[in-house]
Amino acid sequence: MSVGIDEISFYTSNYYLDLRTLAEVQQIDSEKYYQGIGQEKMSMAAPDEDVVTMAANAAQPLVERVGADAITTLMFATETGVDQSKAAGVYVHRLLGLDSNCRVVELKQACYSATAAIQMACALVARQPEKKVLVVASDIARYDLDTSGEATQGCGAVAVLISANPRLIEIDPEVGNYTEDVMDFWRPNYRSTALVDGKYSTKIYLKSLKKAWENFVGASSLAFNDFSHFCYHLPFSRMAEKAHKHLAKINQAGLSLEQIEQQIEDTLHYNRIIGNSYTASMYIGLTSLLENCKQNLAGKKVGFFSYGSGCVAEFFSGTVVDGYEKCLHTPNHQKMLDDRQEVSYDEYLNLYRHPDPRDGEHHDIPSSTTGRYRLAAISGHKREYVIC
Ligand code: CAA
Repeated sequence: MSVGIDEISFYTSNYYLDLRTLAEVQQIDSEKYYQGIGQEKMSMAAPDEDVVTMAANAAQPLVERVGADAITTLMFATETGVDQSKAAGVYVHRLLGLDSNCRVVELKQACYSATAAIQMACALVARQPEKKVLVVASDIARYDLDTSGEATQGCGAVAVLISANPRLIEIDPEVGNYTEDVMDFWRPNYRSTALVDGKYSTKIYLKSLKKAWENFVGASSLAFNDFSHFCYHLPFSRMAEKAHKHLAKINQAGLSLEQIEQQIEDTLHYNRIIGNSYTASMYIGLTSLLENCKQNLAGKKVGFFSYGSGCVAEFFSGTVVDGYEKCLHTPNHQKMLDDRQEVSYDEYLNLYRHPDPRDGEHHDIPSSTTGRYRLAAISGHKREYVIC
């Protein structure tokens, strides 16, 4: 019996800022963003959306197909938690009408935790193959204005259904991890934006890749040339390009630059125009690969490098299942991305500065998202979500 990803769907906000607009205001060459970091647009969350509404939007098509009663565990991965105590997934559980006999938990380790959730979900399903586990990863990437991180913001959520005999990706049990206590990127509880040592973070990312890969090849019989494609954590798309060249070099793969680029090219389309979505980003990258690769991927091996600052990294592998192309949500994703609305720099600042009220009074939140779920009010410090 195989275990892995049966279905995948993602969501991002209906607003985006073109990085050309940001470059113009900053009076710098926009090619620094378009070429230098490989990013074109970044999604900006509407005032009435957060990680809960985005996750519910991402998961809704999966739950609709499989039926709410089929899901026995919901795991919510995020580093943009809305509460120190209550798991964001409990709100999602209600919004999606999941069964009361379904466990819910939130997981955190920077951008890595969705991968931990998926591995744990695979273990649960291996023990009870009739069960289906829903993993949602949802984040809003925010840095201070006028910092080098500003252009790498974004937001998005992905929902991944883990089951036995999956229809998309069979996940192999062998993994390679790398954990080290470092301060490359972090967000203390009292801050709404992340702090980052940008250049150091890219170095630690590459070091973690090498170490996790070495541990992976120690555990697996697979070698670099067994893989046709690679999905990387995508803080910005140039990071993945640098990482993949690094991995190819370590392995003396003997491939041309063009071949190396082709192994990741199709994973980058969505992230280039969404921006960083932390926990969701690598899985939006996988969706981009499955939905945009012209080649039939059935039977191909895909390598995954998941990285969470702080840091925990994991390299793992999977095989694309025959008939996968019939189980994708490509038209919905394309339409959602095409229908987004570009914002001006001032509108971007308004979206950026929109604060969560903290005074315990009742605050209605103006309707703005085009998503199906919205944060309608915060009242008495309680978040009130509604289905539109
Ligand atoms: N045309 C083309 N390219 C240009 C250019 C131009 N006009 N101007 C500059 N560039 C190039 C630079 O040469 C550079 O390329 P190389 O990396 O190949 O040298 C690239 O554009 C970026 O320029 P800088 O290095 O000057 O950019 P910066 O220092 O202002 O910012 C950054 C880069 C530090 C990564 C910053 O975006 C940042 O801090 N981002 C947030 C942290 C991050 O994402 N880290 C990634 C690893 S951590 C992680 O993965 C977890 C996570 O999700 C956060």
